[in-house]
Order: sequence, then structure tokens, then C-alpha cells
Amino acid sequence: MDEPSATEPDREREDAGESVIATRALTKRYRGGQLAVDGLDLTVPAGSVFGFLGPNGSGKTTTIRMLMGLIEPTSGTARVLGRPMPRAARAVLPHVGALIEGPALYGFLSGRDNLLRYDAADPTSDPRTRRARVAAALDRVGLTAAATKKAKAYSLGMKQRLGLAAALLQPRRLLVLDEPTNGLDPQGMREIRSLVRELASDGTTVFLSSHLLDEIEQVCTHAAVMAQGRLITQGPVSDLAAGTRGRLIVTTPDPGEAARVLKEQGASDVVTEDDKVTAEPPDRDLADVNAALVSAGVRVRGFGLQRASLEDAFVALTGEGFDVAG
Ligand SMILES: Nc1ncnc2c1ncn2[C@@H]1O[C@H](COP(=O)(O)OP(=O)(O)OP(=O)(O)O)[C@@H](O)[C@H]1O
Ligand SMILES: [Mg+2]
Repeated sequence: MDEPSATEPDREREDAGESVIATRALTKRYRGGQLAVDGLDLTVPAGSVFGFLGPNGSGKTTTIRMLMGLIEPTSGTARVLGRPMPRAARAVLPHVGALIEGPALYGFLSGRDNLLRYDAADPTSDPRTRRARVAAALDRVGLTAAATKKAKAYSLGMKQRLGLAAALLQPRRLLVLDEPTNGLDPQGMREIRSLVRELASDGTTVFLSSHLLDEIEQVCTHAAVMAQGRLITQGPVSDLAAGTRGRLIVTTPDPGEAARVLKEQGASDVVTEDDKVTAEPPDRDLADVNAALVSAGVRVRGFGLQRASLEDAFVALTGEGFDVAG
């Protein structure tokens, strides 16, 4: 495909509903022969918080490196902000903030000086507002108090925050974050999640990778699931889990009778535990099942479907647990 040599990414095409990231049959085979990404078709809608999910070694970082033009695909294509990568990298990258595995830092410089230097390397950045920009970015990631400490003395989580601050120096249309919560404690992870939500509410599309299912569930509107270099599924997070049905849960002081009625109603795998009876729901209107319980004299305190988690969906899709690929 022939590309016009415009220097601006194609905002119009993107605004017309084209995705912020789109790949077609994107494939990477490393020189050693490892097929790291295998025929990936990825579509990231504008304005989404998109979770790129997969166990260790499933090809997330390799994909991100191709999207950012850091490595060439073996075959297939990648478009970012409507332009082909790596060809349009110079036009696209100023609009993209990226945090990729092991951010490059100068250990002998303080966190603040690292950011000042990083900002100065950006030809589009205004030197007059540099210090204010750096201070705001440090504040956003919670590093103000540690700003004058040398980066080599930073913990992994602090380095991760500093990398994130670098990505936040300029307003961006797209943020690409490779495992942004890596090395952070639970409090730090919560902070990053709320930062991601905040950025998204400003209209920035956020693409973040993770091997943590519940993290993706908590913050993402959309997700793609990778396993061994292949895309298993992608779409709105609510749809991904919705494909998998949760279990029926009945809370009652009459669990024995409730279990009997549920079986009669066609529920399977009925399990009783204290005042809770859970089961695979029968394929019929659950209002009728509830009515049957009540008319059999079962005192129902709670009746509902447990929400299927992304992990349930992953297990259902792959037939495997969510662990490391060989
Ligand atoms: N430079 C490289 N040369 C050869 N093989 C590589 C290289 N980088 C990654 N791989 C292999 O490619 C596969 C995918 O690796 P990648 O780093 O993309 O996975 P990932 O999903 O980011 O994993 P993690 O969750 O551990 O970060 C792995 O089998 C890995 O060993
Ligand atoms: Mg990785």
C-alpha cells in the first residue's frame, strides 16, 4: 500500500472511527527461530483502555516493540494512529507516550534530572515550561518527594513510575504501557490504575499489557488475550466474560431442600456449603427457578448469578490455566 508522506498522523481517518492501533497478520519470528507473535489481528478502538493480556512469554512485549517501530515484523502490518509502522514512526511517535520493559534511565542522575534531560531531547518541547512540565509529571506519578534522589537508588517500582512520568511529559493521543504495575506494591498498583482511569477520561487511548487478569478487569474497557503468540480473543471486557456463564448462587437456611429443587429444575453440579447452594444454572428462565424454590417452601435469602471473571473466560477459551507458556 502506498502512503502519502504527510507528517501528521491521520487524525481524520482515526476520528472517522478508525482504530488507534490496527494490525493485520502481524508476525515476528526471532532470529533464533522463536515464533513470538503469530498472525496477530489486533483492533484498539479510540478512547478505550485496552488491556493486552497474556501469560509470561505470550508475545506482549514483542508486539509492543513492533507497534512502536523498535523492531521490524517478520510479516504482516501494523498501523498506529492510522499510519503504518515502522515507516511512519517519526510522524506517529510524538503523539505516543510509551513505557516499555525496563525504561532506560541514567542512574547517576536524579529522577528529576532524568526527566529534564528526556524532555530536552524532544524537539517539540518548549524549554521555558520544561521545569513545570517535569514537576507536574513527577507529581502525577507520586515521585515528588524522591525527585532529587539518584535514579540508581530507585526501587523497581520507583523506576517504573519514572518511566511513566516520562511518557506523561506531553499530552498524548495514545499511551502504550508495557506492564506498568510491574514491581509496584498493591498501593502503587492502585495508584497506577487510578492514573490510567484519569488519563482515559481526558480522552487518551491507553493500551496496557499485563499478565494479571484481575488488573485488566479492574481498569480496562476492552481486552485482547494472547497465548503463545496467538490472539485468543478480543473485545469489550464485559463481552469477553459474558461468553462464559457464571454459577447460580442461592443463599438459604434450607440448603438441602434448595439443592433438591435446583436439581429438579435442571441445574447441574449442585454444591452445598453452609447456607449457600451453587450450581451450573439450567437453560431456562431463572425467574421460574426462583419461583419453584419459593413454592417448594425454600426460604430464599439471596438468588443470583455469579459474574464470570476474565479468568473463567480464559480457562474456558484455552482449556488451560493462566500460567507460563513453555
Ligand atoms: N530478543 C529475543 N530473541 C529471541 N527470542 C525472544 C526475544 N525476545 C523475546 N523472545 C521470545 O519470544 C517469546 C515472547 O516474548 P515476549 O517478551 O514478547 O513475551 P511477553 O508476553 O512480553 O512476556 P512477559 O509477560 O514475561 O513480559 C518468548 O518465548 C521469548 O522467549
Ligand atoms: Mg513482556
